[in-house]
Amino acid sequence: MNQTNSKAEACLGSNYYKDAAKRAMQWHADYRKEMMKCRFDTIAVHGIYSMQEALDFNQGSIIEPTYLSSSQAYRDSDELEAALGYQIPTWCYSRIANPTMYYLEGVLALMEGYGSGIETSCIATSSGMAAIQSAVDPFLVIDPKNPNAPLNFVATAQVYGGTYQQFSMRKNLERQVEWRKVVNSTNLEEWEALIDENTRFLYGELPSNPGLGFFDLKAVADLAHKYNLPLIIDSTVATPALLRPIEHGADIVVQSVTKSLNTSGFGIAGAVISRKNIISSIDNPEMKADFAAYLKMLPNRDNGPNISPMNAVLAINDIRTIRMRMDATSRNTQKIAEFLGNHKHVEKVDYLGLKSHPLHQLASGYMYLVDSEKDECYNEKINRFGHLMSFQVKGTPQQTRDVFDGFTRIWRATDLGRIKSVATIPAISTHSQQGEEGRKLANIPQTLIRLCVGAEHPDDVIKDLDQALSTLDGTKVYVTSPEYSAGGASSATLRKNEQENK
Ligand SMILES: Cc1ncc(COP(=O)(O)O)c(C=O)c1O
Repeated sequence: MNQTNSKAEACLGSNYYKDAAKRAMQWHADYRKEMMKCRFDTIAVHGIYSMQEALDFNQGSIIEPTYLSSSQAYRDSDELEAALGYQIPTWCYSRIANPTMYYLEGVLALMEGYGSGIETSCIATSSGMAAIQSAVDPFLVIDPKNPNAPLNFVATAQVYGGTYQQFSMRKNLERQVEWRKVVNSTNLEEWEALIDENTRFLYGELPSNPGLGFFDLKAVADLAHKYNLPLIIDSTVATPALLRPIEHGADIVVQSVTKSLNTSGFGIAGAVISRKNIISSIDNPEMKADFAAYLKMLPNRDNGPNISPMNAVLAINDIRTIRMRMDATSRNTQKIAEFLGNHKHVEKVDYLGLKSHPLHQLASGYMYLVDSEKDECYNEKINRFGHLMSFQVKGTPQQTRDVFDGFTRIWRATDLGRIKSVATIPAISTHSQQGEEGRKLANIPQTLIRLCVGAEHPDDVIKDLDQALSTLDGTKVYVTSPEYSAGGASSATLRKNEQENK
């Protein structure tokens, strides 16, 4: 910058930056509109990172750059003042915002709004649990006109174990905010009977983890709006490749980006995606106008639950292939669910793709592979039901553990959404803390194994399941281990034996 320019800027003060910001914001808004015209896969691959941005600001990097810096520097006090006053595009400080985080938010917002024509915005968080906390907390504020009113919210009992804990312990027990549980979420009357003048939002997991609960999304959204309440949906299990709740009336979506969106299994991440002008009885116009932007600028700035740039870029990278992955893994899961459904040692299989599942018809009205009608393999709308399923072993809890312990290719871990098949027993892991009564409400017996199918060939996963289930015929599965890893390290057992021999 030469001295003449500096002087010109000094005379104009912060207006110099604000004018440039206006032009830039318009450019970005136009670019976003252009991207909204693209197909889902193009959005997933490119998001909002443009070639112009790469060439002018990022050394031509074709992949979204990772800015690890904690903060952004400004040219002078005018720019700093305008930035901190949120009057120009800025990221200030990585607790609040960061360019890499911004690219992740941009792609998630476009994907959740895809095909609806509805404008959406997003804030990325450090985890799915942080996303849930960020999404629900702004509604749990005391009404100054009625400060003693006991607050409540209405949410399905069938939710992920961590959500169950957050709702029952952190909200219900510690803050006296009542969680009114919907046990049969397909029963609209049950939802409605739980709503009163102190209800702040409706919440549901769709499909639920691990029970694969499902409800009529549009009907519940209409019900919420009838009472001037927002509907918040955790759509982690479906991902935007199979279901976009905002299109059906939901106000806010939460994602554990950690899962299928970030299938490689690197990094924990979450997101809150909202439509513009959400419905709420709370008198906070700024919050209602753009909920995700409000979270970013105020509550999450102050509470600090946002994502790190490193985790953001890892998520961005995996998101590019979400549609094809959800197609492939859904097809694999369908095959495996059908195999298990016919197995003599299996009591029951829960997978929404099975025609025999009581919620199959309902879910079929909502869960489609996005753009399948524009895919020359299909040329029509194709139902896909995701890669989460569960099955109950015909036997005791101990026999269930024996089957589980017999897996040789399916990984035993409290995880899901991976490119590798992963299984857990929810009663002793993800859903252990909520106790027997909570598990009964959520329909999670001790003989239930949750399986999230990966992208292996399904025949190999079936082989592993079959041999593990054969332990119930008295066939013990022996797994041997080498003394050295292929990389050369000796095993702990070998070291132990050496010490014993000394
Ligand atoms: C449906 C659902 N929502 C939220 C979460 C929490 O996400 P995170 O582990 O990223 O905090 C999970 C985690 O398993 C989940 O399955």
